[in-house]
Amino acid sequence: MKKITNAPLVDLNTFGIEVKTKLLIHYQTENELIELIQSGILQNEKVLHIGGGSNLLFLNDFDGIMLHSELNFSTVKGETDEHVFIEAGAGVIWDDFVAYAVENGWGGIENLSLIPGEVGASAIQNIGAYGVEVCDTIQEVHAIDLTSGEKRIFSTNKCEYDYRESIFKKSLKGQFAITSVLFVLSKNPTYKLDYQHLEEQVLKNGALSLQNIRQTIIAVRESKLPDPKVAGNAGSFFMNPVIGRTQFEKLQADYPDMPHYFVSPETEKIPAAWLIDQCGWKGKTVGRAGVHYKQALVLVNRGGASGTEIAHLASLIQQSVKDKFGIELTAEVNFIK
Ligand code: FAD
Ligand code: EPU
Repeated sequence: MKKITNAPLVDLNTFGIEVKTKLLIHYQTENELIELIQSGILQNEKVLHIGGGSNLLFLNDFDGIMLHSELNFSTVKGETDEHVFIEAGAGVIWDDFVAYAVENGWGGIENLSLIPGEVGASAIQNIGAYGVEVCDTIQEVHAIDLTSGEKRIFSTNKCEYDYRESIFKKSLKGQFAITSVLFVLSKNPTYKLDYQHLEEQVLKNGALSLQNIRQTIIAVRESKLPDPKVAGNAGSFFMNPVIGRTQFEKLQADYPDMPHYFVSPETEKIPAAWLIDQCGWKGKTVGRAGVHYKQALVLVNRGGASGTEIAHLASLIQQSVKDKFGIELTAEVNFIK
């Protein structure tokens, strides 16, 4: 276990916000975490479990204890003719896990290539990209109750997964440390290529394969999303709003070119990037915060921005989208006070 007092967090959040935490604890085993909880050190303290910090916006120094898992293993737990079951520790870098699956010919998560962060958070955030959500490959989420130290296993149907949503973001927010995730991957993968022009882009690079899909998605992502090492960011700042059909039909009459995705007979999803772009925000800068010039949904740190500067820009964007389209944007990024 590593304990660091007054720890700087600038390298532990991809926005690159220069804040500190009173205490940062990296633990290497489940037992270390259980002993820590049972020692009472977390009682009466603000506690935040972090992963790779790629979806956090720190508004101030964190006056509490931050935990980070270094459980770093991937173990095959079983297989059938069709499937392989792999348990991965919460501290495994998500994209390393994708690379490992692809190298072994196991399908299901190749479309989620290059998403930053760690395995533990993937199951909280229900990460998604290019038509795939991680919940479709999760069988169990293994966790430890941060109050009692008890172990719990959540089967997928208990995780209340939805678009960028899970029970760990709602009723159980902040209550559990995710220690590992049991994935079920396919030994005879079927490819999901219906997102925009993905199939065409993959075929341009060669024959259909997990490796080709992974490389194509990496190239597409690198071409439009800023590298946090170059410009601090947390990916999409807002979720794509899902609106009622009546509101959608009215908007579509005014904006026939508005992109949209069918969700249900009652609802339609609208890309927040398009809404923000239409409000003229792409490439704009306010103070030291800005909107990425290639992707209007990504807010960036132009250098030395504080969390409140980024949050201020986010609220200006929300207001203008509300004024122009009558749509409320909800942040995907976690604000940390
Ligand atoms: P953090 O940001 O550290 O934490 C996220 C949340 O999980 C927090 O609430 C934290 O408290 C909690 N948490 C983390 N680990 C644990 C744990 N072990 N136990 C308990 N709680 C925990 N997301 C997508 O879905 N799709 C994308 O395509 C995508 N693209 C991105 C591109 C860029 C350039 C960036 C910077 C981000 C992108 N994201 C995307 C967002 C981000 O990568 C995901 O939300 C990711 O899952 C966050 O992982 P993390 O380990 O960094 O978690
Ligand atoms: N668009 C614009 N202006 C822009 C950018 C995009 O009008 O500046 C339009 C595009 O033309 C397209 C639509 O918006 O019609 C969607 O754009 P894109 O394909 O880039 O996807 P997105 O909806 O902005 C979502 C996820 C991403 C994920 C991609 C690929 C959310 C909130 N975001 O972005 O996830 O990588 O799809 O699947 O769902 C993240 O969560 O951090 C993230 C990056």
